[in-house]
Amino acid sequence: MCGIVAYTGKREAYPLILKGLKRLEYRGYDSAGIALVNQGIQVYKKMGKVAVLEDSLLGISLSSQTGIGHTRWATHGEPSDRNAHPHRSSNGKLAMVHNGIIENYALLKQELSNKGYQFDSDTDTEVLLKFIEDIHIHHAGSLEEAVRIALRRVVGAYVIIIVDEDDPETLIAARKGSPLVIGIGKGEHFLASDASPIIEYTKEVVYINDYEVAIVKPDELILKNLGNERITPFITQLDMELAAIEKGGFDHFMLKEIFEQPVSVYDCLRGRLDAQLGTIRMGGVDPHLDKLTNANRIIIIACGTSWHAGLVAEYVLEELCRIPVEVEYASEFRYRNPVIREGDVIIAISQSGETADTLVAIDMAKKQKAFIFGVVNVVGSSISRQSDAGAYTHAGPEIGVASTKAFTAQLVVLMMIALKVGYAKKSIDKVRFLHLINELNEVPEKINFILQSAENIQALAEKYKDARDFLYLGRGYNFPIALEGALKLKEISYIHAEGYPAAEMKHGPIALVDESLPVVFVATKDAYHEKIMSNAQEIKARKGKVLAVISEGDVEFISIADDVMVVPVADELIAPLLSVVPLQLLAYYIGLAKGLDVDKPRNLAKSVTVE
Ligand code: M6R
Repeated sequence: MCGIVAYTGKREAYPLILKGLKRLEYRGYDSAGIALVNQGIQVYKKMGKVAVLEDSLLGISLSSQTGIGHTRWATHGEPSDRNAHPHRSSNGKLAMVHNGIIENYALLKQELSNKGYQFDSDTDTEVLLKFIEDIHIHHAGSLEEAVRIALRRVVGAYVIIIVDEDDPETLIAARKGSPLVIGIGKGEHFLASDASPIIEYTKEVVYINDYEVAIVKPDELILKNLGNERITPFITQLDMELAAIEKGGFDHFMLKEIFEQPVSVYDCLRGRLDAQLGTIRMGGVDPHLDKLTNANRIIIIACGTSWHAGLVAEYVLEELCRIPVEVEYASEFRYRNPVIREGDVIIAISQSGETADTLVAIDMAKKQKAFIFGVVNVVGSSISRQSDAGAYTHAGPEIGVASTKAFTAQLVVLMMIALKVGYAKKSIDKVRFLHLINELNEVPEKINFILQSAENIQALAEKYKDARDFLYLGRGYNFPIALEGALKLKEISYIHAEGYPAAEMKHGPIALVDESLPVVFVATKDAYHEKIMSNAQEIKARKGKVLAVISEGDVEFISIADDVMVVPVADELIAPLLSVVPLQLLAYYIGLAKGLDVDKPRNLAKSVTVE
C-alpha cells in the first residue's frame, strides 16, 4: 500500500514524479503529494487521486531537480490534506514520504510530545520524521546517521525517503518490509515502490533489501546497513517493456488484463509445457521436485485471490499427487502456532510478491525449517527473494486492483506443478498426464472463445446491475471459482456477494433466496453435474434468478437457468481456468454500468504491504 516515487538528477522532477505516481496509484489513492527542493522545500498535497493534486498545481511554477512523491492508502489518520504525505519536520528543513506502518509510533509520539514537539497530522509518518529530526539535532552529526539510529528503534514496516534543504541533491531512503527499487541513470537516480515509474528511463535497477539505507545523489548511490557498513549495490536488468504497463487502447487496465489472458496463459506455459513431446519442464521446480514428491504435507499460504488459487490447487494436488494439502490465509497462519513438521512444504502464492501477511508467514515458516516454494508474478519481489525455490507466473504487470490474469497464471503454474509431481510419484498414469497436458495447452484458445461473448456478458451486467446481493455457488474444482467470482463482484461493484459450496447452500444461505436474488452457478460439466442442477432447481423453486456459467452444449442447464454464460468443454480439473473468465467480465461490466472506477475501487490497494 502507498506508492512512493523520488528523483534526483538533471531533469525536471515534478512531471517525472507526477507520471510515476499515476503509475503507482493502484497502490492507494486516498491522497497524493509532492515535495520539491529548490531554495528550500515546497510541499504540495491533496486528498484524493493524483489528478486532484495535478489540477491544484496548474499554473504554478514547480522547477526542481530533486523531489519526492507519494500516493496514499490511509492507515493512521483519515484521508485528508493534513494526513497526506510528504510530511515536514518541525523546523521545516526535512520532508519525508513513507509506505508502511510504524507500530510503536504512539510511544515515540509520547516521547516527542514530552520534549515539546507538536504534530500537524494523525499519522505515524510524521512521528517517525520528527523522531529522526530530534536525533539529527541532538545526537547525530549527519542525517543518514540519524536515520540509522532512529530505525534501530522502530518497530514495524517502512520504506522512507527524505529530502533535506541543507543537502538539496541528496535523497536518504531506507527499507524494512515494504518494497523499494532504485533505477540507475547517467547522473540521475529514480526511486520507486516498483519498477513501473522507472522503466521508461533506465533498465538498470537495484532492489533495496530490509535494513538497508541508501544515500542517493545524482552521481552516486551508497548503500549501508543500519550498522553503517557499506554494502555493494547489486544491479539487475529489468525485464519489462513500457507497453506492458499502459492501457493499449482499452478503457481500463482490468478489461485489458482480462483480454490478455490468452497471451498471459500462453506465456506461462511457453518454454515449460510441450504438448508434442508430452513434457513439462520448470526451471525453478525441477531441481527441487523431490522436496514436493516426498512432501508429507503441502501447506499453501496466500491472501485474497491468490488464496482462491490455492484452494483450486488443493483439490488438484490432492487428486493428482495424493499428498495432503492445507490452504491457509497468511494472516491467520502467522498469528497462530501452526504445526509445521519436517517434510512439510510451504507453497506461498502472491501476485505482487509484497503482501505483508504472506511475507511474515513465510518468515515464520522458514524459522521452523520449512521449505518455501514461491509462486509469484512480480520478478525480483520480496516473496520471490525470500523463497527457497519457486516458479514465476509470467503474467506480465497487473495494474488493475482486481486480480484477473495473475489468477489464471497462478492456476496454470500450480496445475503444471501438480502434474509433474503426480507423474513423478506415479499417482497418475501417462495417459492422464498426457491428456491433462493437452487440455492445459488448449486453454489460451478456449479463453479466446469465451472473450468473444463479452458483449453478451455486458448485456447481462445491465440486467443484473441493480441487485442488492448476489450468491455464487459452485462444487468441486469450481467451488473456489464461486468464491473468486463473488470477490470480484464485491471489489468492483460494491454489491454484496457471497460465495458458497453449492450443496452447503441448504444449510443456511437458502434463507436469502427470493425473486430479487441473482444466484450465479459455476456449473461446468463434471462428474457430479446433476447435483448442481438439483441445487439450481432448488433456487428456481424459491423464485431466485439463476445465472449460470455452463459448458458449451449443456441444454439441460439452459432449460433451468434464466441466463447463461457459456465456456468450452474441458476436463473438470482444467475448468476453473475457463469458468472464472465470464465472472471477471460480469464483475467488470457491472462496475462499469454503475459508473464506478473499476481500476481503483474504493478503500482497496493492489499491493497490501501493511498487516
Ligand atoms: O499480491 P497478492 O497476490 O499477494 O495479493 C493478495 C490479495 O491482496 C489480492 O489477491 C486481492 O484480494 C485482490 N484485490 C483480488 O482481486
